[in-house]
Amino acid sequence: MLFELHSNCVVGLLLYLCIVTKIKLAKIMKRKLLFLTILCCLTFSANACGTEVTRQPTAENEAVTDNDTVASGSGLFHLTQGENGKPPVITLSSGYTMPVLGLGTYSLHGDECINAILSAIKLGYRKFDTATFYGNEEEVGEAIRRSGVPREEFFICTKLYPNEFAHAEEAIEASLARLNIGYVDLMLLHHPGRNDVEAYKAMERAVAAGKIRSLGVSNYYIEEMTEFLPKVSIKPVMTQNEIHPYYQEKEVREFMHRNGIVIEGWYPFGGRGYTKAMFSNETIKEIAKAHGKSTAQVILRWDLQHGVAVIPGSSNPDHQKENISVFDFELTPEEMARIDALDRNEKHDWY
Ligand SMILES: NC(=O)c1ccc[n+]([C@@H]2O[C@H](COP(=O)([O-])OP(=O)(O)OC[C@H]3O[C@@H](n4cnc5c(N)ncnc54)[C@H](OP(=O)(O)O)[C@@H]3O)[C@@H](O)[C@H]2O)c1
Repeated sequence: MLFELHSNCVVGLLLYLCIVTKIKLAKIMKRKLLFLTILCCLTFSANACGTEVTRQPTAENEAVTDNDTVASGSGLFHLTQGENGKPPVITLSSGYTMPVLGLGTYSLHGDECINAILSAIKLGYRKFDTATFYGNEEEVGEAIRRSGVPREEFFICTKLYPNEFAHAEEAIEASLARLNIGYVDLMLLHHPGRNDVEAYKAMERAVAAGKIRSLGVSNYYIEEMTEFLPKVSIKPVMTQNEIHPYYQEKEVREFMHRNGIVIEGWYPFGGRGYTKAMFSNETIKEIAKAHGKSTAQVILRWDLQHGVAVIPGSSNPDHQKENISVFDFELTPEEMARIDALDRNEKHDWY
């Protein structure tokens, strides 16, 4: 719509109707003059409405870095629309929808990977995160095809690794062939690196050819994203970065939200080798006890209430079920603040 109706417009219109019907101006010339004056006022008012549109940066635009359009918080995801076993979706800037919770597949291979995905599908998971680097795209595709669930119900994300950037076109084709599920829902650049813009442009061509639906990046923070955005045509719908209670990335989160880019957290439980320490954190345990939930569920809920999508990794069906059952409770602002206070800028991987 060209102009959104503004309250001023409505008031102006009502005023006009009152004047025309009640005063009953006798002379046609006077009526015409009055009509013209009111028309001018209405046009001015409607134009003013038109300038109130929130800035929606496209890839050609500079990144939005100021604070005037911050929209962080649980409002970003419609969590009340989700239910255990059926996470809500978010509409990406590409127009496609994506479940806000999925299954990470890093370190899963062979039958363990296929069985983990098949059990997750039975539990309601429809989003799966893989990468050429994980060496399990074939297994992911195999499980999707075997599941009997229509392809369109899934949201599959894969990633190109920096050593593939120089020959991205071939790498994209190879990834599509390994997955063998028709199209890819989302392809990310796994890391910033040499030739990343060229690789992204190859992905843009694959979007035009209908092979990929949405594009994004991973391990791009404020500086990398600010440099990257003006160089590409299709705005990344997402960045996937390390986020957990000990490494929260508040500024990055807010920056991505301001720019209409979904932020997704990898290592939600701190990553393998760190999960035990995370799950035994006293603050998280207390909050979990108060809700009758596990510490894993509290961490995922904390992410989601901050507008951070999650892809916890698990091959254990009990854990998978627990992780997709976080839509029947809500953390209070005080509980959110207590977990926020655990941030200690402790990164568990180098990138
Ligand atoms: N873009 C990137 O650079 C990047 C980097 C790293 C990871 N990722 C993605 O992020 C995903 C998540 O990371 P991650 O899998 O390495 O680490 P994670 O999700 O932080 O932790 C996974 C570990 O937690 C355990 N676990 C899961 N749910 C649990 C529960 N409810 N209770 C107890 N233990 C539970 C899993 O064991 P069980 O199998 O026994 O449940 C596994 O050992 C990866 O799979 C990958 O898809 C992306």
